Amino acid sequence: MEATTFAGQDQAARYQELGPQLAALLEGESDLIANLANAAAAIKECVTAASWVGFYRRVGDELVLGPFQGKVACVRIAMGRGVCGTAAADQRTVVVADVEQFPGHIACDAGSRSEIVVPILRPGDGRVVAVLDVDSYQLDAFGEVDARALEAIAAMLARLAWP
Ligand code: SME
Repeated sequence: MEATTFAGQDQAARYQELGPQLAALLEGESDLIANLANAAAAIKECVTAASWVGFYRRVGDELVLGPFQGKVACVRIAMGRGVCGTAAADQRTVVVADVEQFPGHIACDAGSRSEIVVPILRPGDGRVVAVLDVDSYQLDAFGEVDARALEAIAAMLARLAWP
């Protein structure tokens, strides 16, 4: 296994480096937890503004904490609650520039200021199997570049062996 490296000066360039490296990391490995763990580590290394990167898996009507990089986090989030539950229930990317302005934001880390959550949709039926959550200590850290890049990553992860 090769270590991941990111040399890009801006975030868009760094995302371009992420796709092929993540594909190489996932190739030939079928274990979902191992793949999500490495994906969280690679995304955390890539996204310079990120304070926390991780996954919440859909289990029934809840999202349950999966592999992540960062401080300990809330374990269970109901569908429709918080930023994660909203992204999962609406099956869309949610970008929050200021978490204090998002009604129902769930504060796992009081230092978090902005957030992006991207749903992972199972190919075929489009069911939400998980969300990818990226948090930042900076206000307004994420925008269109992040949304499009992380959606591409979510599409790659959607092809993993979800139950
Ligand atoms: N802030 C999220 C909860 C997850 S933590 O940030 C890791 C939310 O409102 O859904």
